[in-house]
Amino acid sequence: MTTESKKVTAPAIRARKTAGPKIAAVTAYDATMARLLDESGVDILLVGDSLGMVVQGLPNTLPVTLEEVCYHARAVARATRRAHVVGDMPFMSFQVSVQQAVCNAGRMLKEGAVEAVKLEGGQDVAEHVRAMVRAGIPVMGHVGLTPQPAHAMGGLRAQGKADDDAARIVADAQALQQAGAYCIVIEGVPSELGRQITQAVGVPTIGIGAGPHCDGQVLVCYDMLGMVRNLHPKFVKRYGEIGDAIVSASAGFVQEVRSGVFPGPEHCFGTEGSRSGAESTGTRPVVSSTPPAYGPTHD
Ligand code: KIV
Repeated sequence: MTTESKKVTAPAIRARKTAGPKIAAVTAYDATMARLLDESGVDILLVGDSLGMVVQGLPNTLPVTLEEVCYHARAVARATRRAHVVGDMPFMSFQVSVQQAVCNAGRMLKEGAVEAVKLEGGQDVAEHVRAMVRAGIPVMGHVGLTPQPAHAMGGLRAQGKADDDAARIVADAQALQQAGAYCIVIEGVPSELGRQITQAVGVPTIGIGAGPHCDGQVLVCYDMLGMVRNLHPKFVKRYGEIGDAIVSASAGFVQEVRSGVFPGPEHCFGTEGSRSGAESTGTRPVVSSTPPAYGPTHD
């Protein structure tokens, strides 16, 4: 848990390139998870378009809309006190024109309450990034494996293995920095290329499957927490087995409902003047922990 409660901003993230420490970023899509992750001391909460896959159950991120990212981002922003909240620009929300990119990035700040936007692409979107930054919108770049043009790339596979591809990705990152991006996500490239890009740009790099030399790391929260039980991507380290914990806790609930153990007297409301035994012994908390529960906490 963090002891530092000062709000993390885009300039503060930018300064971590030289000042350190390394940046820890995770995705978040709802208020409850955002509150917990924020409390853990993560620096960035990214409302990724990965929500299409992990929240909506889609096979890829392409159908995700700007309205959907804004909906999830508002929930995350509402629950976050310290972390820097970034919203991902979905497929076709910025590619069409520079004007479209600036307008939609502005909507993400106004309607999604994010503090910065992320967009996929390199030299091809540098003009878009420049215009967004000129409009006062902090922009996080994303190079290497960029899932939105996955069809054009022939599927989701690691990038930059060949020399010319690696050189293009370095040039992409440099173009984003020159356009004013304050940090750059590098996804799915060999560790050596992650190191080269990190040395070639003056803004922090945040890797996902890009090796240990980046200035920070990002993971999808459900992957990091072990909630996606059937997938074990090479670049993911699980810091918990929350998926197992959920299945086991829920199985306990099912079993107790069926056997009649739940609800016990301590979970039941009495009528006026006939308070239950558990209440009178004071074993039952009458005020819920914050945030508020979803129903009455006492009679
Ligand atoms: O959409 C997303 O969650 C992302 C991260 C994996 C970087 O782009």
